Amino acid sequence: MSRTLTGIQSTGVPHLGNLLGAIIPTIQASKSGENETYGFIANLHSLTSIKDPELIRENTYAVAAAWIAFGFDVNENVFYRQSDVPQVCELAWYLNCYMSFQRLSLAHSFKDKSDKASEVNAGLFTYPVLMSADILLYDAEVVPVGKDQKQHLEFTRDLAQKINAKHDNLFVIPKIQLEEKHMYVPGVDGKKMSKSYGNTIDIFLTDKKLRKRIMSIVTDDKGLEDPKDPESCVVFELYSLLADQKRIETMRTQYLAGGYGYGHAKQALYDLIIQKFSSERAKYWGLMNNKAELDKLLALGAKKARSIASQKLNQVRTALGF
Ligand code: ADP
Ligand code: TRP
Repeated sequence: MSRTLTGIQSTGVPHLGNLLGAIIPTIQASKSGENETYGFIANLHSLTSIKDPELIRENTYAVAAAWIAFGFDVNENVFYRQSDVPQVCELAWYLNCYMSFQRLSLAHSFKDKSDKASEVNAGLFTYPVLMSADILLYDAEVVPVGKDQKQHLEFTRDLAQKINAKHDNLFVIPKIQLEEKHMYVPGVDGKKMSKSYGNTIDIFLTDKKLRKRIMSIVTDDKGLEDPKDPESCVVFELYSLLADQKRIETMRTQYLAGGYGYGHAKQALYDLIIQKFSSERAKYWGLMNNKAELDKLLALGAKKARSIASQKLNQVRTALGF
């Protein structure tokens, strides 16, 4: 049984791309029984880009509610808010004092983000160090990440090795588990679905707003009677990611035959989302309307996480001379 740790960004309500591409596969993997999974909402990291307190709070709740609604088991796993374990900030300070400035300056994601940001804060620069603290505080053995986070994990491993060279085996060196791309989900404009492109589908919207969003998916200008090419249509692509084989084949035949408009296909996609995710949508809204319950579930994880974190931090303090 190895300890796997996953940090989840809290920069908005998770969209269909996040759900199909990351959240659902991670939850499934956590059910295999082979790993002990630590999942946390990286809300301290989100302060590098979001300064509105209400938004920080709401995003944190939205991410937590989505994970729980999709079946992440908070009793079997350790699920917590990063900010509920402030020990991570103390460890981040110690790690900052070991991290090379030059090395940190080579971070690709800092370059990308600082090119786009109107204000480049120091938190953005030391983001990978807080991430290292997230991992090393819990002796995580395996960290699954996408390609964009690989370099941060390499920093973490090197930093832990550097400190271990002076302080024998203080930290567990985490293994990088490079995530296979599970799925590529297009947005309403056909580009990769992403918060930064403003093209997302939020399946937790109210029925009316969700329908409006689905109806806004961009298609070509073929008329109702024209035969259509399913393979080049975003509506069909999204439908194919969600429907069973029989329904997919039915829609493909309708596209090719003509007399079936994009409006019909969008309505079918909307109906499918409502039907497929009805229990998750209800659970999500149940939790978002009952923050006390969400707080209770997150407190459970925080308690478990804090107990591990305090022990580790004591070891680190002693080793470093505090
Ligand atoms: P965004 O691009 O909206 O900011 P993030 O970068 O926060 O999304 O991604 C969080 C997780 O969701 C990552 O594991 C990422 O690979 C996955 N993901 C995001 N968008 C998609 C998509 N369009 N298709 C598949 N997976 C996605
Ligand atoms: N930086 C990660 C991301 O953008 C989120 C994250 C924060 C994380 N701390 C972590 C991921 C620790 C893995 C381990 O997706």
